[in-house]
Amino acid sequence: MAVSYKDLGLVNSREMFKKAMAGHYAIPAFNFNNMEQLQAIIQACTENESPVILQVSKGARQYANQTLLRYMAQGAVEYSREISNGKGPIPIVLHLDHGDSFELCKSCIDFGFSSVMIDGSALPYDENVALTKKVVEYAHPRDVTVEGELGVLAGVEDEVSAAESHYTKPEQVVDFVTKTGVDSLAISIGTSHGAYKFTPEQCTVDPKTGRLVPPPLAFDILKAIEKELPGFPIVLHGASSVPQEEVDIINKYGGALKAAVGIPEEQLREAAKSAVCKINIDSDSRLAMTAGVRKVFAEKPAEFDPRKYLGPARDRMKAMYTHKVINVLGSAGHAYDK
Ligand code: G3H
Ligand code: 13P
Ligand code: ZN
Repeated sequence: MAVSYKDLGLVNSREMFKKAMAGHYAIPAFNFNNMEQLQAIIQACTENESPVILQVSKGARQYANQTLLRYMAQGAVEYSREISNGKGPIPIVLHLDHGDSFELCKSCIDFGFSSVMIDGSALPYDENVALTKKVVEYAHPRDVTVEGELGVLAGVEDEVSAAESHYTKPEQVVDFVTKTGVDSLAISIGTSHGAYKFTPEQCTVDPKTGRLVPPPLAFDILKAIEKELPGFPIVLHGASSVPQEEVDIINKYGGALKAAVGIPEEQLREAAKSAVCKINIDSDSRLAMTAGVRKVFAEKPAEFDPRKYLGPARDRMKAMYTHKVINVLGSAGHAYDK
């Protein structure tokens, strides 16, 4: 049976983006696949009064079951209320990440999602326009917001893959937004999915730390897009910073992550002050969780109660989310803005 997100206590992204644009910060869009991730996100965002977008990928939907996910999102609203010291739940969007068909978007909308992404970025331009428009025409009468994408991100991550990136063409964005009616636009300016965003050959080496330093994001393209679409919400995918502390812990305790490189946080902070209103982070959570679990397994090999290793993993994720909303995205303290 169809259910509206409004009955679950969720909101769409429209007001959030308007406030983020005016306040020069970005809304965190954190992917979740399990209870510990969701608890860490809701604790970090509620305690720091940040609005949040909970993202579910097609893979997450298959992994966790869509009925369970819907109740988890509804539970997240109630959990936030419970730990909010009487302030009420933070604004929470339930968003489909990288929807790849009209049918998937429709199913999510009918099932309680308040926002969907239709990712037609790998299609020829006219087909991307037609597919995105079809999703918007279904979503808007139901007050569900839609994210489209122009330009292709590099990198490979499960079902989201593209061998090479093609930066968004600023001269296409007005036509795309006008023809489709989307509420926000994901762009390609040098970010990519996963923990290996750049090859060592693309990087320089910091002489002090010996760490790889990636090439900067294409801020000139972002500026050109902002000029074409003043005040329009822009989305950055592939925005994990791949914290080296997490990578080091994983490697120290038996992992083998070689040359993992992310987007420097100063650049994300700079993007968050611009028209970038939504910043997608998934890999950093995977790294924090893996680091937490590996550490316990290595230090306490006799441990076999999942709560004893998932608990510390959850704490690491919460610390990471907290750092992001306060120091990187700047969304902390904005949950109850009028
Ligand atoms: O953009 C991709 C997200 O990190 C989701 O990844 O398809 O492995 O769930 P996933
Ligand atoms: P990361 O792999 O950089 O975390 O990107 C996540 C993302 O873009 C989800 O859509
Ligand atoms: Zn993405």
